[in-house]
Amino acid sequence: MTDKTASFGIDGSDRTYPVMEGSVGPDVVDIRKFYGDTGLFTYDPGFTSTASCQSAITFIDGDKGILLHRGYPIDQLAEQSTFMEVAYLLLHGDLPNQAELSEFDYTISRHTMLHEQLATFYRGFRRDAHPMAIMCGVVGALSAFYHDSTDITDPQQRLIASHRLIAKMPTIAAMAHKYSVGQPFLYPDNSLSYTGNFLRMTFGVPAEPYEVNPIIENAMRRIFILHADHEQNASTSTVRLAGSSGANPFACIAAGIACLWGPAHGGANEAALNMLREIGNVKRIPEYIARAKDKNDPFRLMGFGHRVYKNYDPRAKVMQQTADEVLKELNISDPVLDVAKELEHIALHDEYFVEKKLYPNVDFYSGVILNAIGFPTEMFTALFALARTVGWVAQWNEMISDPEQKIGRPRQLYVGATARDYVPLDQR
Ligand code: SDX
Repeated sequence: MTDKTASFGIDGSDRTYPVMEGSVGPDVVDIRKFYGDTGLFTYDPGFTSTASCQSAITFIDGDKGILLHRGYPIDQLAEQSTFMEVAYLLLHGDLPNQAELSEFDYTISRHTMLHEQLATFYRGFRRDAHPMAIMCGVVGALSAFYHDSTDITDPQQRLIASHRLIAKMPTIAAMAHKYSVGQPFLYPDNSLSYTGNFLRMTFGVPAEPYEVNPIIENAMRRIFILHADHEQNASTSTVRLAGSSGANPFACIAAGIACLWGPAHGGANEAALNMLREIGNVKRIPEYIARAKDKNDPFRLMGFGHRVYKNYDPRAKVMQQTADEVLKELNISDPVLDVAKELEHIALHDEYFVEKKLYPNVDFYSGVILNAIGFPTEMFTALFALARTVGWVAQWNEMISDPEQKIGRPRQLYVGATARDYVPLDQR
């Protein structure tokens, strides 16, 4: 807390509120007593100017294009960390030493299998069910199988539930893919890395051994790290809000998956690749740029723009480098990547995008890489959910342990009918 304050002149008298200072980034005005003092609510649809919590996990500076996880820059983590190292960092607050990392790796690997009855859950879906519909259903159903880790007041149960969620998401996502292509599920192979295990469960078949391609394994490691956490985004806020009612962790993460599915959020990676394919070649880019600028056209450039980044999304930079490396190493030339690069170049020199500070975000290039690796487009957001689970779980644990946390319950500006008497049906 600082001794800084903020004052509001209301009805001729000044109301003064304390200003809270973080370790970096904007200060906040503590308005918790504002309604009690003034009888007024503040109004902030979309929470553009509202801090919902204190957090020590991720810091974003949208103007400078900075993203830190527990103080470590995203480009350094993407370059030098394993995904389990980042998961440990987000969950526990610091990079693990070798003993801590080995123990964490071992613990997570021992939770990778699903309860066998959950496999029958998949058979209830149509084969063409969207993988995100399956993820919402199966992750929510985990609370029906793991009753020994749903008591959120027990730190041990919270930790086991956190490990189970992190460990089982790759198995659940891979099974969603297998089900959609009519192939048998593969059990996890814990001799592989977290990422290698996921690749084998997704692309391997029981009929022959599966060799993890180190190029693809490294690309997936980076992609998972780039998607791990991102401050109080829509799906993380959903997980926190669900958790604030005391709901069990599996239900909270299922809520986060549902929110992430939207095309304005995690669903943008699938939408961005579909858009790039629809554009098809660089000659059609001006037509789509014009549509994106047309107020009467609902079309937006998917994978562009961000609520916080008003500079280049640092994750997009690493993603573009990874796209170049993976396609080169796999000897794949994808015209969609050329369209993406040309679209970015044109947009970043167009005054509409410059004025509105619209840059490529994490979703703009990810689809090009995932497509080159062999994932169907419908799986892209499921991969985002898989990776973001480590962030959701870390944020959920932080929320539960926060002494200031209480059930989230926003108010409203009511603009509906005022009180009126019921009109019997025969008089309407
Ligand atoms: C993610 O929050 C996070 O951290 C999310 C995320 C994470 O890791 O969790 O980073 C992941 O969700 C990234 C964003 C993925 N979404 C998309 O790529 C979808 C396309 N982008 C937009 O829908 C939009 O940019 C949002 C939703 C990302 C941000 O929306 P805002 O902050 O509410 O901004 P806005 O919609 O008010 O746009 C501001 C202006 C508007 O014009 P005006 O009304 O001021 O005239 O910019 C325009 C918008 O029309 N605009 C776009 C645009 N994005 C915004 N115009 C064309 N194409 C776009 N992509």
